[in-house]
Amino acid sequence: MTAPSDAQAAKQAIETSAARLLATGRRPSIAVLLGSGWGPFADAVQDPLAIPYDELPAFPVLRVGGHSGRVVLGRIGAHEVAVLAGRKHAYETGSADGMKSTVRALAHAGVQVLVQTNAAGSLTHALPPGSTMLISDHINLAQQSPLFGEPGDDRFVSMVDAYDPALREAARAAVAGLGEGRDTIGEGVYAWFMGPQFETPAEIRMFQLLGAQAVGMSTVPETIVARHAGMRVLAVSLLTNMAAGLSAEKLSHAHTLASAAAASQRAVAQLTAVVRGMVP
Ligand code: HPA
Repeated sequence: MTAPSDAQAAKQAIETSAARLLATGRRPSIAVLLGSGWGPFADAVQDPLAIPYDELPAFPVLRVGGHSGRVVLGRIGAHEVAVLAGRKHAYETGSADGMKSTVRALAHAGVQVLVQTNAAGSLTHALPPGSTMLISDHINLAQQSPLFGEPGDDRFVSMVDAYDPALREAARAAVAGLGEGRDTIGEGVYAWFMGPQFETPAEIRMFQLLGAQAVGMSTVPETIVARHAGMRVLAVSLLTNMAAGLSAEKLSHAHTLASAAAASQRAVAQLTAVVRGMVP
């Protein structure tokens, strides 16, 4: 017998993972992928059932601080959700397909909407650290794609309205209904910079000229895979800092995490309202 091709192995991993998720009896229609600072959102899940990524072959092997990632199945309001804590970034391997099989397994399990979250640097003083931003569009500066090598004409996937306009409108309405101090969320273009080093001030000036309002090292590959799989996408950035050269702050991952932690309560309250308010 010949060894299965990579494509066959990936297909099998996707099917096995979807079957494992569905064997719980849960039927998530919305998946929420948590980025830096968004971890407490998992606590908003009612009737939670956690599955470690280790048990799902289409999910990435993560070894950050000795913990594997996990999927938390449960409910937010009337919706069945799958909340993913843990993401593989392109800067870890140089390849944009670290979450490809994961997103496909979710689609295979019947998930129709992918909600992404991330931490990002702000390119505008209109979005100071601590604020949140709905992503309206992105710029794939890295010019990397999880669809490299994909066969078939459906690889030429349209990226117009990749961040679903109706979901964004519903998200704005849900946030507007929150109390004082929590009812504002920005909207703008996210530039994907592959990292892992932070940007130079000259790069940041270029991204501003290109029309971006935020810069970060994630999200875009997953959006591309999700659109290819026919899922609708919503994405929210938590701006943890002014980007390089725009303030006197010294950038570091520790600073990103500390700043995200300080702002996460408000961001998580907004995201909870956004998911609750989604029309399936
Ligand atoms: N640049 C890139 N990624 C980030 C930043 C940033 O300034 N802040 C948080 N993630």
